[in-house]
Amino acid sequence: MISRDTIEEIRNRIDIIDVISDFLTLKKSGSNYKALSPFANEKTPSFFVVPAKGIFKDFSSGKGGDAITFVMEHEKMGYTEALRYLAKKYGVDIKEERQTEEGKAEQSEREGLYILMNFAKEYYRKQLTGSEEGISIGLSYFRERGFNDRTIEKFELGYALEGWENFTKEAITKGYNKELLEKTGLIVKKDDGSTYDRFRGRVIFPVHNISGKVIAFGARMLGKDKNQPKYINSPETDIYHKSDVLYGLYQAKNAIRQHDVCYLVEGYTDVISLHQSDVSNVVASSGTALTESQIRVIRRFTENVTVLFDGDSAGIKAALRGIDMILKGGMNVRVVLFPDGEDPDSYSRKVGTTEFQKFLKDHTQDFVSFKAGLYASEAGGDPIRKAESIKEIISSISQIPDAVKRSVYIQETSSLLKIAEPVLLSELNKILIQERRKAEKDKPREQHPEESIPVVPEEIEPNKLDVQGMVQLQERETIRLLLNYADKAVEEHKLTEFIMQELDDVTFTNPVYKQIYEAFKDGAIQGNVTDSNSFLKSSSAEVKNTVTELITARYDTSKHWNSKNIFFSKESEIVNELALSNVLRLKFRMVQKMMEENLQKIKEAERGGSWEQLEQTLIDQTGLKDAERELAKLLGIVVAK
Ligand code: UTP
Ligand code: MN
Repeated sequence: MISRDTIEEIRNRIDIIDVISDFLTLKKSGSNYKALSPFANEKTPSFFVVPAKGIFKDFSSGKGGDAITFVMEHEKMGYTEALRYLAKKYGVDIKEERQTEEGKAEQSEREGLYILMNFAKEYYRKQLTGSEEGISIGLSYFRERGFNDRTIEKFELGYALEGWENFTKEAITKGYNKELLEKTGLIVKKDDGSTYDRFRGRVIFPVHNISGKVIAFGARMLGKDKNQPKYINSPETDIYHKSDVLYGLYQAKNAIRQHDVCYLVEGYTDVISLHQSDVSNVVASSGTALTESQIRVIRRFTENVTVLFDGDSAGIKAALRGIDMILKGGMNVRVVLFPDGEDPDSYSRKVGTTEFQKFLKDHTQDFVSFKAGLYASEAGGDPIRKAESIKEIISSISQIPDAVKRSVYIQETSSLLKIAEPVLLSELNKILIQERRKAEKDKPREQHPEESIPVVPEEIEPNKLDVQGMVQLQERETIRLLLNYADKAVEEHKLTEFIMQELDDVTFTNPVYKQIYEAFKDGAIQGNVTDSNSFLKSSSAEVKNTVTELITARYDTSKHWNSKNIFFSKESEIVNELALSNVLRLKFRMVQKMMEENLQKIKEAERGGSWEQLEQTLIDQTGLKDAERELAKLLGIVVAK
């Protein structure tokens, strides 16, 4: 057990900002710090650190506590394990109190796995430089590949001897039991109960977690035996979840933060060679397709990913899949394509550090120009192929959750391919609508009549109007519907009643619209249908003008229903849909307006308010965000998460 004095000493030295910064990028915000929650998938930061109190609070997951709690939660460590980690970080000597038998048994299983993995790593390292076989086979292989001592050290590379139980014997001698050896996957059990070392006669690449602990190994063969896999990897264990892990992140994290971009490559050797070329903000997905949770991990350090890949067709295909995943994760993607037959590893060694860095700088393209170039070269002058390539690009753009970013990319595509923006937009809307339909089919919802809510693409670019403008636009549409179709049937009610019910808790912001709305409301309460003409007799000039305008304006359906698949001859036939869509849209914009107002409150609370104020405003924001998302889903609008 760690002595009380030691714990005291560790607590005294801890700086919570410093501790958490090893795992997340914190941004200063007033006297506090904030970041994207590492415990949830989110796009607006709700993770807060209050250095004055030495605590953190994560509003997404509800987790909170001090620096030790953070390490425990984030690294899935036990209490003592977290203390040991922090002791090492702050150079505190650990004084152990006598370790009881129960104490030993208490040591969590996880801790046991970490300890054994660490032991194995040290063992393989020793074999690489301290055994004849290791030196003549393993080390010379690394030398051939151009890895220097510093690199071998940095990545803790090793060598596993030939033979079935070299490692097993050593581990048993050192007191590790077979059961644990099996749990780490370091040995394999056969049907007859006998066991053997998993890694034999191979060079070893340890895989580290974010805090630098070894959680798995990749072992590369040395010869060219076609019957053997090139790499043998550790299986999934309690401490190794392949789909969450990026090779090289521990060695790369500071550089990623510093350069605010993460290079993504395929293999262990690509990561290592790039480090040798002084490009250290690089991680590998390790041969598998990139996963959502890997993308989330990167997102804690930067929003920018540059995918590096081989120029062969398999490499391109893999990269294309990756690009869409990253876009979907809300990140910015750039691409570097290497000459055919070269991967980042081979190319960096071929041209050397300076040239390689220059190559990266000169050949980084955003994904639109990359895709455009790719298909342009394939398509030649073929118009059909060109159309296909445009669809490909739009399909990637449709993955981007942020509407403003989408429109920027549409603009770029338009100027790059010389295609009018509206054409591209309509293609984009088609995809968004399709996906929304698909999502709805996959997840049937009972509460609302799905088919009667029209999927009208956004007709106004969000960046042209502010939120207040958007709210008023919908208020205007409500009034227009009331003036023109007051007693039309909507959802088994008269339109007036339907709207009054739906907008029960909504207060109009525009004074003129508000006045007209109140008149309809009074009428409805008294059981009368308000006649539009009554406004023309006895109202202010402003009201009269508005009413006249809204009654006489010929409603241009083709503009509203600009998806080519939907044609309506008369607006009066779709009043039901228009009313449903309008109340949803009005609520949607109202919620957005409230979010904007609440954001101001958050900023004020951050600057000088109490902790409780800040907490309340953040909770409010989360609630509003949920409402926004819910409404957006009903409307088929994609909003930023
Ligand atoms: P590569 O075949 O590109 O390997 O696979 P590499 O790391 O570049 O190795 P060299 O340069 O040929 O020596 C990319 C990644 O796919 C995984 C590994 O993580 C590898 O780094 N992989 C590949 C496996 O897990 N098993 C395999 O059999 C092959
Ligand atoms: Mn390679």
